[in-house]
Amino acid sequence: MASGKPEMTPTALSGFAGEIVRWQMAHGRNSLPWQNTRDPYRVWLSEIMLQQTQVATVLDYYARFLQRFPTVSELAAAEQDGVLALWSGLGYYSRARNLHRCAQEVMALHAGQFPRTAEQLQTLPGIGRSTAAAIASFCFGERVAILDGNVKRVLTRVLAFSADLAQSANERELWSRATDLLPEQNLPETMPRYTQGLMDLGATICTGRQPQCLLCPVQALCRGLATGEPGKYPVKTRKLKRSAQALSLLWAQRPDGSVWLEKRSSPGIWGASIACPSLKVTMN
Ligand code: ADE
Repeated sequence: MASGKPEMTPTALSGFAGEIVRWQMAHGRNSLPWQNTRDPYRVWLSEIMLQQTQVATVLDYYARFLQRFPTVSELAAAEQDGVLALWSGLGYYSRARNLHRCAQEVMALHAGQFPRTAEQLQTLPGIGRSTAAAIASFCFGERVAILDGNVKRVLTRVLAFSADLAQSANERELWSRATDLLPEQNLPETMPRYTQGLMDLGATICTGRQPQCLLCPVQALCRGLATGEPGKYPVKTRKLKRSAQALSLLWAQRPDGSVWLEKRSSPGIWGASIACPSLKVTMN
């Protein structure tokens, strides 16, 4: 166990997937605007917006976006500036640039239809392994594992998976464990419920600080809880490298209230977004 891997413990946690599915039906989130649809355009848009952004923030943006671009073809035909303007305030603008490119690829390479498997979805701009799996399981019922930040927390706790996720071999091992835990039965509703259940559990019960283990549907199976320290998972030693920036912004406003904005140069985190002119940037 020097590597932290519980090598001898089989992954199979009998009944895990069934408990997640049952709990999702009774206690999960079931009326978010991107649920109760299998339209890959709507599901894809929600999944991209929900990367790094809370549900409460996404709700308004999602509605506005769909009103302006109800279909993938309308999004693909838009000017990039129009897409970025609607994204303004959501942050991580590379998501919006990739979203636009992805819509254009769906039109140009897939005849306007999103591919139906996670493997193919991953070839599109801005769609990584977990997002591809979320779309494929929600829309097409594919039996494929997701592993976003919340789900990593749930699964490392349930499995008492203490290997360091900063190492890619350990991350690969967790993907494989996540696949072992998938529901065996593949009824049409099972995969969407299971995927949503893991997301919901991570967002509401198995939270980063103060997990509410007494309310958890898999408390009896949870190996992390059995160790007495569920909060120590996931283990990730390498910290995010942060850099400091000092920005001076010019706020130039006319008496009528209009503000001088300019388009930032690409790339960069704010590339091609519309903002006040930036006068000075120092980095260290
Ligand atoms: N975060 C990522 N995907 C989500 C979804 N489908 N519902 C709620 N939160 C999410």
